[in-house]
Amino acid sequence: MRQSDRLSRIPPYLAFEIDRKKREAIAAGIDVIDLGVGDPDRPTPDFVVEAMTRAIRDPRNHTYALGAGVREFRQAAVDSMARRFGVQLDPMKELVPLIGSKDAIAHLPLAFVNPGEHVLIPDPGYPAYISGCILAGGVPWPMPMSEETGWLPCLREIPSAVTDSARMLYLNYPNNPTGAVATLSFFREAVAFARERDILLVHDAAYIDTWFDEPAPSVFQVPEARQCAIELHSLSKSYNMTGWRIGFAVGNAEAIRHLAFVKSNVDSGPFKAIQWAAAEALAETDGTSTRAMNDLYRRRRDLLVAGLAALGVRASLPRGAFYVWARCPDGVDSLTFANRMLEQAAVTVIPGVGFGAAGEGWFRMGLTVPEDRLREAVERMRKVL
Ligand SMILES: Cc1ncc(COP(=O)(O)O)c(C=O)c1O
Repeated sequence: MRQSDRLSRIPPYLAFEIDRKKREAIAAGIDVIDLGVGDPDRPTPDFVVEAMTRAIRDPRNHTYALGAGVREFRQAAVDSMARRFGVQLDPMKELVPLIGSKDAIAHLPLAFVNPGEHVLIPDPGYPAYISGCILAGGVPWPMPMSEETGWLPCLREIPSAVTDSARMLYLNYPNNPTGAVATLSFFREAVAFARERDILLVHDAAYIDTWFDEPAPSVFQVPEARQCAIELHSLSKSYNMTGWRIGFAVGNAEAIRHLAFVKSNVDSGPFKAIQWAAAEALAETDGTSTRAMNDLYRRRRDLLVAGLAALGVRASLPRGAFYVWARCPDGVDSLTFANRMLEQAAVTVIPGVGFGAAGEGWFRMGLTVPEDRLREAVERMRKVL
C-alpha cells in the first residue's frame, strides 16, 4: 500500500537487525541478557497500584477526561514542581496532562513547526524527536554533542541560517543515552539563546528524578524560561510506570495552550483513573520511591562501570538516567560491536549510531537488570573481548 512521503522520510531504525536477531535467539532458547531496553525492571510501587484499584472502581472515572481532567492530578503535579524545584506554576494555565512524554514529542511540532522549518535536535538523542519533527513536515537539525563538552550541544555553533528558521530546540537532561546531567548555567545559556531567536525550548525531563550525585535541575529554575520553554515530565521512569502512559507538560502558558489544542483534536487526555493514581505517586512528599530506585541504579551503575573498566572498556560515568554510555573498544564501529556482543556473548546493547551520527563509536547499556545479570554480562563480554 502507498505510504505518505513523510513516513518514508523517517530514518530506518538502525538497531532493527539486532532486535530481530535478539528475538530469534530468545525463541531458540538462548539465554540473552538484554541491556538494550529502557524499561524499568521493578514494578510500579504498591501504593500507586492500590490508588489505581480504588479509582478504577469509581464510575466517575470511566468517562472522557475532557476539559481540565482530574484537577487533583494537576495540583499534585504543580505541588511536586514547587517542592522539588522551587517553581510555582498555575495548574490550569501552565500545565497539560500527557499520555507519557512521547505524547508531547509527537504533538508539539504540529503546533509550532511549519513545513521546511527546522527543529534543533540533540545528537546523540532519543529518536522520537526526529520522527515527531518529520511527521509535522519539519527538518531536523542534529546538534552534535561530545564527551569533551560534557554531552551538551554548542548552541552558538549552529549556523544562523538554521537558527533563523528554527522553531523548536530539544534538550534532554538527565540525558538518554549519555547519562549527562545539565548544569543550571547551561540552562541559562539555552534560555537566553531561545529567547533571542524566538525558539520554543523543549526540555524533555523524562529522567529528571533519576540522578546519582546531585538532583537534576528543572529548566524553570531559570526564571526567564517561563517566557520561552516547556518541560516534559513523565511518571514512566520515575515510578516504574512505562505501560501506564502518564506524564505532564509544564511551562509557557501560550505553548501549553497550543499543545492542549492539538491534543484536543487527537486524544481526550489520559484515563482519569490513571490520573488519580499518578496524583498519589506525585504526592509522595518524602521521595521514598524515587530514592529507592536511584540507590538501586547507583549500585548497578558502579558495578557495570567498574566491570567494563576491568575489560579496558571506557564508559562516560552517568550522573543520571539509567544507562551506561561506553566507548566501543579497538575503534570498531558501534553496529559491528553490538552484533558481535549479541552473537558471541548473548548480550544485547544498543549501537550508539542508533541515536545519531555523533553516537558512532559508542554503545548504550541499560541498568534495568539485576546485579547478578550485569555481572554475568560483563563476564560474557570478557570472554569475547
Ligand atoms: C529521552 C526520552 N524521552 C521520552 C521518553 C518517552 O517516555 P514516556 O512517553 O514513557 O514518558 C523516553 C523513553 O524511553 C526517553 O528515553
